[in-house]
Amino acid sequence: MLGDFTYCNPTKLYFGKNALDGLKRELPKYGKNVLLVYGGGSIKRNGIYDKVTAILKECGKTVAEDSGIMPNPTSDKLNEGCERARACNADLILAVGGGSVCDYAKAVSVSAYCGDDPWEKFFIRFEEPDGKIIPVGCVLTMVGTGSEMNGGSVITNHAQKLKIGHVFGEEAYPKFSVLNPEFTFTLPAYQMKAGFFDIMSHILEQYFSDADDSTSDYISEGLLRSLIHSARIAVKDPENYEARSNIMWTATWALNTLIAKGKTTDWEVHMIGQAVGAYTDATHGMTLSAVSMPYYRFIMPYAPDKFARYAVNVWGVNESGKSTGEVAAEGLDEMEKWMKEIGLVMNVTDLGVTPDMLDGIVKATFLNEGGYKALTAVDVRTILEQSM
Ligand code: NZQ
Ligand code: ZN
Repeated sequence: MLGDFTYCNPTKLYFGKNALDGLKRELPKYGKNVLLVYGGGSIKRNGIYDKVTAILKECGKTVAEDSGIMPNPTSDKLNEGCERARACNADLILAVGGGSVCDYAKAVSVSAYCGDDPWEKFFIRFEEPDGKIIPVGCVLTMVGTGSEMNGGSVITNHAQKLKIGHVFGEEAYPKFSVLNPEFTFTLPAYQMKAGFFDIMSHILEQYFSDADDSTSDYISEGLLRSLIHSARIAVKDPENYEARSNIMWTATWALNTLIAKGKTTDWEVHMIGQAVGAYTDATHGMTLSAVSMPYYRFIMPYAPDKFARYAVNVWGVNESGKSTGEVAAEGLDEMEKWMKEIGLVMNVTDLGVTPDMLDGIVKATFLNEGGYKALTAVDVRTILEQSM
């Protein structure tokens, strides 16, 4: 049964080849001081930095920069960003990059004036923001996380070997996001593919949970079919605008809260993936691909009907003359074939996990209860061992 819910998504999106024009329309709404946040330099090499700074100049903004946001941004970097945001008295934080940059911008926005250690407050104690929040805008350059239209922010603490996400409320969503599919053309193939699987995983984390047969599930199946189709095209022809634009749009809807509505949602693949990330600093989407097949084969017996529906509606498996279990298993086989076809990492060994890390990774994995089987630590270990 569809559970009760409230729905509001406050992020305004500008999508398409001219999406950056949206930045000109948005900037006048904010004060003079802009903190421009970006990663390790890809935006300088591909020209996006020049385009964005030209618009900031045209709009008369005073710009301070915070660069070098690493993939899987750290708590130490977050503390540095808070100081920068206060030092320039930022009226707007403009994140130009992927999920890491956007997540980081959101973390700085709620933390700069929180008067506490942000890691402890938001990522250990999961408190809600109670101080001034600096508005965030985003120019997205990497597709996958959905960070452009949600309140999620994932931070890594290397000293504690933990990678933890906090899903903030609407007040911390980006006020606006600029989505130009062409800005993603320069992504290295590995990152592009990791993003594709991040999208798939977000949809599956919500789809494989109660309430089954909700409108959310029908939307999810459509998003999955679009992704599977377009990803096959994009890996062969990365500059195929139609494929890349459909994938970009799918990514946003995969994790902007819509398909979670009324559902319990699982997120266990992400919990295991994040623990793997805390130990290896591996690319997020690949941590998910590496553990997904063992995970879904492990939980399939607890919801065979749903996995059979997935096989038929998403993977086009012919069910005639087969048992529910056979159909369900064939669907997962099709998924595995597609993952190999597009070139995803299929085991955690390839991400640098060694047997001596397993105890720590199991311990760092949060155990959720929204999926079809509430895992135990022993289950997590089994899944990881099958992914070695
Ligand atoms: O740092 P630069 O030089 O910009 O290079 C980046 C980075 O190395 C590069 N890149 C990005 N756009 C590019 C580009 N290179 C060439 N051309 C472009 N157009 O790609 C690399 C990866 O970027 P990153 O932002 O780390 O990737 P992604 O978007 O996958 O973000 C990953 C982070 O988001 C978190 C992950 O845990 C991870 O920390 N997540 C956030 C979520 C959310 N907010 O809801 C949910 C997700 O499940 C995820 O956990
Ligand atoms: Zn993800």
